[in-house]
Amino acid sequence: MITIKPKIPFKIYTFDSVDSTNNICKELALKGEKTAIVIADSQTQGKGRLGRSFFSPQRTGIYMSLLLRPDISPKDCNLITTAAAVAVSDAIDTISGKNTLIKWVNDIYLDGKKICGILCESGFSNNDGALDYVILGIGINLFTPENSFPDELKDIASSVFTKSVNDSDIKRKLIEEIINNFLLIYNRLPDKEYMKRYREKSFLTGKTVSFEKNGVQCTGVVADIDDDAKIIIQTSSETVTLFAGEVTLKF
Ligand code: BTN
Repeated sequence: MITIKPKIPFKIYTFDSVDSTNNICKELALKGEKTAIVIADSQTQGKGRLGRSFFSPQRTGIYMSLLLRPDISPKDCNLITTAAAVAVSDAIDTISGKNTLIKWVNDIYLDGKKICGILCESGFSNNDGALDYVILGIGINLFTPENSFPDELKDIASSVFTKSVNDSDIKRKLIEEIINNFLLIYNRLPDKEYMKRYREKSFLTGKTVSFEKNGVQCTGVVADIDDDAKIIIQTSSETVTLFAGEVTLKF
């Protein structure tokens, strides 16, 4: 197991295998731990957004969750997701020399394929409904899995590196870079300065996408992403602003 030394102290838990690092973080949060970082070599029940699973085979990826206690309103939780997307994308670029992009809201893409997903889960106080904790889960396909990706992912998923060279060293460097990048942004979250970088790295801006609005399938061109991370799409008849959901690239 690797030893991580982020510049800002956080208690770090490392495991060979867990069901989900987000679940371990939740247990820590409910036991009263203030902040923590949980890292595993593999996950047996890695969770993705929208109830999907996240493929988490042994050694080839980074599966990491941060337990945070941000002093923000629940409606601003998506700032953490978008800040993390910038931190991770920049960290991957620095360590790999590649040029990753962010697909709204929180997927990282390399050469048109997904290499990283981010899942934020929040907990609220029973007393007053205030935000109690946020768990920021980051899953990166670092190396191509030994038996490649399962059939359902082959066309849409990729990895940062095709071969596993000196794997624990690269993993450690990348994890440290992500944590350091993220905490720098996190400490200045409300100024939304990082959204400039998010827009520079936007994979979808200028592209034609399909999306669902009020149960109807629509098509439009992505015009911009605003400071609240809402995506602005121009259809043939109107400008649509979406806060959450999924947009799909149309070729
Ligand atoms: C997605 O692509 O939909 C989000 C994937 C998030 C995966 C990470 S891996 C670490 C953390 N633990 C989980 O179970 N999920 C997140």
